[in-house]
This record gives sequence, structure tokens and C-alpha cells, in this order.
Amino acid sequence: MGFLILDIKDVIKLRRSIRKYKKNPIDISKIVEILEFSIWAPSAHNAMPYYFLIIEDPQVKSELVKKMAEEYENDLEKDQIAEPSRKDIIEESIRKFTAAPIILIPCLSMERMHKYPDKKRQNAEYIMAIQSVSAAIQNFLLVSYTNGFGCCWYCAPLFCQDIVRKVLGIPKDHDPQAFITVGYPDETPSPPSRIEIKKITFKNKWGQSV
Ligand SMILES: Cc1cc2nc3c(=O)[nH]c(=O)nc-3n(C[C@H](O)[C@H](O)[C@H](O)COP(=O)(O)O)c2cc1C
Repeated sequence: MGFLILDIKDVIKLRRSIRKYKKNPIDISKIVEILEFSIWAPSAHNAMPYYFLIIEDPQVKSELVKKMAEEYENDLEKDQIAEPSRKDIIEESIRKFTAAPIILIPCLSMERMHKYPDKKRQNAEYIMAIQSVSAAIQNFLLVSYTNGFGCCWYCAPLFCQDIVRKVLGIPKDHDPQAFITVGYPDETPSPPSRIEIKKITFKNKWGQSV
């Protein structure tokens, strides 16, 4: 598969979140090839506490996104967002996800993580699992970029995990963490700003500048 040969520093800096895609279909085997690099990210206990679900079937995608939109609309109603703008927000949410050729859903699983009787350590293990999934996602984004794909990491399933599980048959102890939309880019976003490194890095004691 045609990976671009780029310096790692360039890959990290040049990757952008891409939210508009060309309609070209994507061969799922390419996504699996990229996921092969996800699993080489570090993971707590080397447990790889995740599974990946690749959604490419337009009907599955559409059913999923519509069911999620119902829950989203309930939340917006609770936030007292007025009907007309609520409708626009929901339509845009449905549109952006159905327009993505692929949605990758990394699901967190605690089955290979350490088991503890107390809440403090259970919580620490769960956070380690989240961090491990995130590292795998980052590898996916970077390698996708070198392969000419654009991606965006969306948090949407975190707000309706039960619906995502139900529509896709995900077991109840597996937690959908994100939507990673994937496609050939149809936009070239300018780089968003970053907070200066010296403002968020300290030396020896909190608040002491580097
Ligand atoms: C945990 C996480 C959740 C995100 N959720 C969303 C989202 O729901 N919608 C969205 O448009 N972008 C989302 N993003 C993408 C960020 O907005 C994006 O990474 C950030 O603006 C920096 O832009 P860049 O990725 O082009 O550097 C998310 C990113 C992360 C890491």
C-alpha cells in the first residue's frame, strides 16, 4: 500500500483533522493495514484493551447515526436549545457522519486489564485503558495521514454508548470511545493554533518556567 515516506516530525505537524471527504469508496483492507500500526502503540500491561469496529455499510451507518441523533436531540431539548436551531444541529450531525466513507469505532474492553477489588485501583485501570485506546487512535491518525487519508476524531458515541452498542451489537462491557471518520480529504484546513509550549511546561515545581 502506498505509504508516503515522511519524517515523523512532519507527519505529526502536518496531520490535520479532516471533516470533508471525497465520495470515493475505501477498501476496508487498507483500514485494517493501518490498524496494524495502531496495535504497536504502547498499552498498559501490553493488554491492548480495545477492539475496532469498522463501519462501511451505508445502511448500518445511517441507522446508527439516526438513532444517535434522537438521543442528541433529547439532550439539546434538555439544554433548552430552541426547535429551529436544534433541527439544524441534528441535521448537520446526521449529514457529517453519513457523508464519511468509513467510521472506525475503537471500543474499550477491560477484559485483559488487571482486576482489583477496590474502586481506586479499578478507576486507575480504567483510565489506563482509555490512555491505551487513545495512543492506538493517535497511531491510526498519523499512519492514515501518510497513506493519503483524512480523519477526524469525534467524541459523539461517548454521549450515547448504549445506543451505539444496541445498533451494532457491541457487548455491554465494551465501551465505544470515539468515531474516527476516514476518507480521502476534500478540504485543506489551515493549521489551528497551539498554546505555546513554554506556557504549559514547568521545571521541577509547578509554575516554574523552563
Ligand atoms: C478526544 C477528542 C475528541 C474530539 N471530538 C471532536 C468532535 O466531537 N468534533 C470535532 O469536530 N472534532 C473533534 N476533535 C478534533 C479536534 O477538534 C481537533 O483535533 C483540534 O481542533 C485540533 O485540530 P487538528 O486535529 O487539525 O490539529 C476531537 C479530538 C479529540 C482528541
